Amino acid sequence: MAAPWVLFYAVCVLRVVLATVYFQEEFLDGERWRNRWVQSTNDSQFGHFRLSSGKFYGHKEKDKGLQTTQNGRFYAISARFKPFSNKGKTLVIQYTVKHEQKMDCGGGYIKIFPSDVDQKNLSGKSQYYVMFGPDICGFDIKKVHVILHFKNQYHSNKKPIRCKVDGFTHLYTLILRPDLTYEVKIDGQVIESGSIEYDWNLTSLKKMEKSSAESKDWEQEEEDKLQCICAETSHRSACLKVRSGTIFDNFLITDDEEYAENFGKATWGETKDPEREMDAIQAKEEVKKAREEDEEDLLMGRFDGRENNFRRFHKRDEL
Ligand SMILES: *[C@@H]1O[C@H](CO)[C@@H](O)[C@H](O)[C@H]1NC(C)=O
Ligand SMILES: *[C@@H]1O[C@H](CO)[C@@H](O)[C@H](O)[C@H]1NC(C)=O
Ligand SMILES: *[C@@H]1O[C@H](CO)[C@@H](O)[C@H](O)[C@H]1NC(C)=O
Repeated sequence: MAAPWVLFYAVCVLRVVLATVYFQEEFLDGERWRNRWVQSTNDSQFGHFRLSSGKFYGHKEKDKGLQTTQNGRFYAISARFKPFSNKGKTLVIQYTVKHEQKMDCGGGYIKIFPSDVDQKNLSGKSQYYVMFGPDICGFDIKKVHVILHFKNQYHSNKKPIRCKVDGFTHLYTLILRPDLTYEVKIDGQVIESGSIEYDWNLTSLKKMEKSSAESKDWEQEEEDKLQCICAETSHRSACLKVRSGTIFDNFLITDDEEYAENFGKATWGETKDPEREMDAIQAKEEVKKAREEDEEDLLMGRFDGRENNFRRFHKRDEL
């Protein structure tokens, strides 16, 4: 009579590992990503993406992602997935972004749209549910945006969250839970967490939760038919100091925090150290080359090479 117990045990184990993955994209099948991603033609000036792992990387193939190719452009590209509702469930949005060109101004964020969005006509004005990711402009703006659409309004996070500004790949994770708590992680570390109600100042959310007559979930109302993900950079028209080279990769939308953590470890976690090693080797080579050029200049009686070297050595430092 032991059989039912065995069965019960098996069911329990299955429940633990049952994650729903709404969207996952690693760009591992060459140019076939073009069948899944749609470039917006709303503005003929929108920049184009290509697949690249950049000038330095941890793994030439695995680190290939969508890279911006033109300076001073806006970008809008999107991919579809099956509509889902996160009612009563956790929502995890995760991806990696690398500003290897040393971003002085531009965004590296993604947006989740309603399922009826016209992908070819996508623009900065298209309505979205969630916007998440880093935004850098000069010395003043170095922040992670978490903008939630609620009751026909966009609400920004009131707590400032600082983003990474170096040239390496970073893993950004947003977790929104049905108990109205959240976490923002960078590189797997929690850097902000708390109550969605307080940190977005959603007083109406508080009222809504308390009134039993109107106990419709925030998630239900706001994220009923999430369907489209978009990688967008440099939305701020006032900032056109922008350089190409940003790489987006390892997109994941799921209802399972543990799955996201493991996916992060299996992707970014595996290539982050080799990426830094390759960068260090390149930097060493550049220093060596610069020194040789300096010596040559010295021998020839020229001293005007210094400015270039200064720029080279500071390429990937923090702003
Ligand atoms: C681009 O989007 C904007 C804002 O939604 C709209 O006003 C404009 O007509 C669109 N342009 C084209 C060519 O569809
Ligand atoms: C694009 O969307 C805007 C509204 O956001 C609309 O005015 C415009 O006609 C659309 N363009 C096309 C080509 O569908
Ligand atoms: C939060 O919302 C309340 C009511 O809408 C407003 O009075 C208050 O100034 C807001 N606080 C912040 C920090 O935005």
